[in-house]
Amino acid sequence: MSDTTLYAQRRARLAAQLGPGGIAIIPTAREQQRNRDSDFLFRHDSYFYYLTGFTEPNAWLVLSSEGEATLFCQPKDAEREIWDGIRLGPDAAPAALGVQRAVSVTELNAQLPKLLENRSTVWFPFATHPGLESRIEGWLQPVRARVRFGALCPDQQRDVCALLDEMRLVKDAHELDIMRRASRISAHAHIRAMQRSAAMLRAGQEVREYHLDAELLHEFRQHGSQYPAYGSIVAGGANACVLHYRADQGLIRDGELVLIDAGCELDGYASDITRTFPANGRFTGPQRALYDLVLASQEAAVAATQPGARFVDPHNATVEVLAQGLLDLGLLDKHKVGGAQDVITNRNYFQFYMHRTGHWLGMDVHDCGSYVEPSEVGQISERKDPLSGETIKDRPSRILRPGMVLTIEPGLYVRPAQGVPEQFHNIGIRIEDDAVVTAQGCELITRDVPVNPDEIEALMRA
Ligand code: GLY
Ligand code: MN
Ligand code: MN
Repeated sequence: MSDTTLYAQRRARLAAQLGPGGIAIIPTAREQQRNRDSDFLFRHDSYFYYLTGFTEPNAWLVLSSEGEATLFCQPKDAEREIWDGIRLGPDAAPAALGVQRAVSVTELNAQLPKLLENRSTVWFPFATHPGLESRIEGWLQPVRARVRFGALCPDQQRDVCALLDEMRLVKDAHELDIMRRASRISAHAHIRAMQRSAAMLRAGQEVREYHLDAELLHEFRQHGSQYPAYGSIVAGGANACVLHYRADQGLIRDGELVLIDAGCELDGYASDITRTFPANGRFTGPQRALYDLVLASQEAAVAATQPGARFVDPHNATVEVLAQGLLDLGLLDKHKVGGAQDVITNRNYFQFYMHRTGHWLGMDVHDCGSYVEPSEVGQISERKDPLSGETIKDRPSRILRPGMVLTIEPGLYVRPAQGVPEQFHNIGIRIEDDAVVTAQGCELITRDVPVNPDEIEALMRA
């Protein structure tokens, strides 16, 4: 299937859900200024890209319930193209993208009232594009003014994300193929950074976090990734206990651990991998003890990731293993906190594990998709959110189905505190893999970089 057909099929699936007289308006992302005369690197809007495969800025898709797609795009402009690059232009767009019509984006304000006239429902992404609501308002005004001449003005506005989130949550074969490739590139980038760390220390060189960040970027770009999927975390020693630390200039010290959370974006899809490894290639005893515990908790989460299970099941499986392990290693004192079940009920593990075990992954690193099972909303149920402790009534956790992709990323972060054995102070460990739910269980697509500590040590000796 050509890519054009693929996007046309997605538009047809969306159009079929718009209802009689429906029309959807979906803009791509805005260009953003970074500072004087410099923009941030442009990144298309994921919903827009999902339906068009088009990566130019200043573009809009308008889709009717009858399936007619109108693309608004930048007009050809010889002078601008000298500065900014070739534009597809409205004449070439229908053949290139499979849309029925393409119009210059300079016509947007003139055309939209015509496209909205005699429609019943306007669908657009709610609360994602600042100012979009007022632009739509502006396009509806001239339609309303024509009501006395017999025109119909839409009387409903609905959130198109609700439809697109469900579509994007289950990945098709084309998407999974790209995500597998992105994962492989990222996995090899992690290996490269691990090996560089050990090699530099062996050579007596000073290693800084940015040296390892450079290795990641090299591998991403070398294999065609457009950019990192998110700001890479490269954290030496105690920096690993800062959850949103960014690759900075910290010294990577012999004898400490390095936590790297980094993944490339490839052709619009994210990968998201964390590995924690000894800077010099050899775990110390306490590092290994904590690492083994996090790994065991990840294995439990992987086993819980299967069709029919709930999104919260891998998290709960992780917490069960961590709770027992924290007691066994003496990070929690059983005389103070009780047994593993008490640690879970009272959330004592929070001191060391304060984030969720995963999230949806796709075009966005924290991808769209409801974490509540839509088919069960309103059915009587009650559960506690594992993180906030809030009671969630009548909104059961999402049921996992084949084609959903999620991360599995348990961790432990030990800040110095009274009662915490000193040998574990300032150790931060996370192990993160990307899992595709399959008919039988799940497929980990990021295991080109090992998690087994012996295998990590072996590859760092190489
Ligand atoms: N790298 C972002 C995350 O792990 O959620
Ligand atoms: Mn993640
Ligand atoms: Mn991550």
